[in-house]
Amino acid sequence: MAKKLFIKTYGCQMNVYDSARMVELLAPLGYAPTDEAGEADMVILNTCHIREKASEKVFSELGRLRAERRERGAENVIVAVAGCVAQAEGAEIIRRAPDVDIVLGPQTYHRLPEMVARATRAHAAKQFRPDLPRGAGLLDTEFPAESKFDFLTVTNESPVSAFLAIQEGCDKFCTFCVVPYTRGAEFSRPVARVIDEARALVAAGAREITLLGQNVNAYHGEAPNGSGDGSTWSLSRLIRELADRIPDLARIRYTTSHPRDMDDDLIAAHGDVPQLMPFLHLPVQSGADRVLEAMNRQHGVDLYRRIVDKLRAARPDLAFSSDFIVGFPGESAKDFAATMALVNEIEFAMAYSFKYSPRPGTPASSMELQVPEAEQDARLQELQAVLNAQQQAFNRAAVGRVLPVLLEKAGRRDGQLVGKSPHAQAVHVDAGREQIGTVIETRITDLGRFSLRGEIETPPANFRPTEAHLMEASA
Ligand code: 5AD
Ligand code: SF4
Repeated sequence: MAKKLFIKTYGCQMNVYDSARMVELLAPLGYAPTDEAGEADMVILNTCHIREKASEKVFSELGRLRAERRERGAENVIVAVAGCVAQAEGAEIIRRAPDVDIVLGPQTYHRLPEMVARATRAHAAKQFRPDLPRGAGLLDTEFPAESKFDFLTVTNESPVSAFLAIQEGCDKFCTFCVVPYTRGAEFSRPVARVIDEARALVAAGAREITLLGQNVNAYHGEAPNGSGDGSTWSLSRLIRELADRIPDLARIRYTTSHPRDMDDDLIAAHGDVPQLMPFLHLPVQSGADRVLEAMNRQHGVDLYRRIVDKLRAARPDLAFSSDFIVGFPGESAKDFAATMALVNEIEFAMAYSFKYSPRPGTPASSMELQVPEAEQDARLQELQAVLNAQQQAFNRAAVGRVLPVLLEKAGRRDGQLVGKSPHAQAVHVDAGREQIGTVIETRITDLGRFSLRGEIETPPANFRPTEAHLMEASA
């Protein structure tokens, strides 16, 4: 009987991608994924360390799982903590939660099968030696010389909208951010490997691919065989190649970008690659030069404005999303007002906004003039009110329009599917399952709380025009 694997994924899309890879790596050991922690033989928490309380959340989840294991008398469940909390606080996890078997960082998950085998042996040994501690206590948070990407297996099942990691790590060292420490130095996968994986995903059912990287537009992957000489390709060249070479790949997106790395060819690609969707996540963090400087963002507000203008010139319907941090150390009321002014000027289709949270080991955590929490709360509320209103207005503007929607999966109701508009808005439509994976012209009829509702415009494939239809068409 197959063993059951439950993975709980926190944080960014890179973690979602990594979790899917861990599922694939453990399949040969007989593990099949489950959505029920209560029936799992192995549990992985794939964690995020980007903001506060991340590790507390992990410890409380471990406590909950412990109670649940006890209740069903399943002491042999293997427990692993993966991801960025594991990387940052591995030893602490083993100390505080001695029943955790495996702690592994984001760069070592290809060693998971070996670690699971060792943990299984340790559990077996404990049947004869009940005095041994419950957990196997295996820790691997290295940045190994070999790349985990070389150990990936070929995907044979893919969601309609798939992620593909092309770049990882970050060399930017924004003063608030843990990523350069948890994910390590910037690394780009070779072009040939990316193209192979994209082809495999499309062959397995993907129609949309989101290229992932912590700093994805800094991509500079080794050129494919034939172009010789250690040269590299940029993100825009890679996107053009994917668009030209993979006919069934209907849509391409990429995230997350840094304004400094938005080069002219990438901007041009938004104008001349139809598969590249008109929606871009481009974090700005703050609208004040002083704050951007203290954050070490390596650009000012003007550069951001210029990039947005150029992108809108290349692709007039391009919509933007962004990330904001309020209450960064030293952020004055005037600085915050500059952020509000920028938001009002650009108008975002959606955005994430956060209170600054000091992360251990980052330069900003020891800066003077930390903004009091009450002030951070007030600023966040003010910002979010405007960002929410902009998102609502953006979604409302879609009502009445006909948009090409990529139908991705079954909706909550029978006979309903959920798809995505070019601007990454979720759209609910009544359609049969056989339509999953198709892009279909959809009239947006109204607005839900988090999504749009629409009706399919194009006639079905078996549509035969009647006399009345023909008359209408010629009228
Ligand atoms: N505090 C608050 N927000 C943060 N982010 C990253 N680090 C911090 C921090 N220490 C936000 C940034 C980034 C997003 C992924 O998370 O806005 O773009
Ligand atoms: Fe963190 Fe800055 Fe790198 Fe983004 S660019 S991952 S915010 S250090």
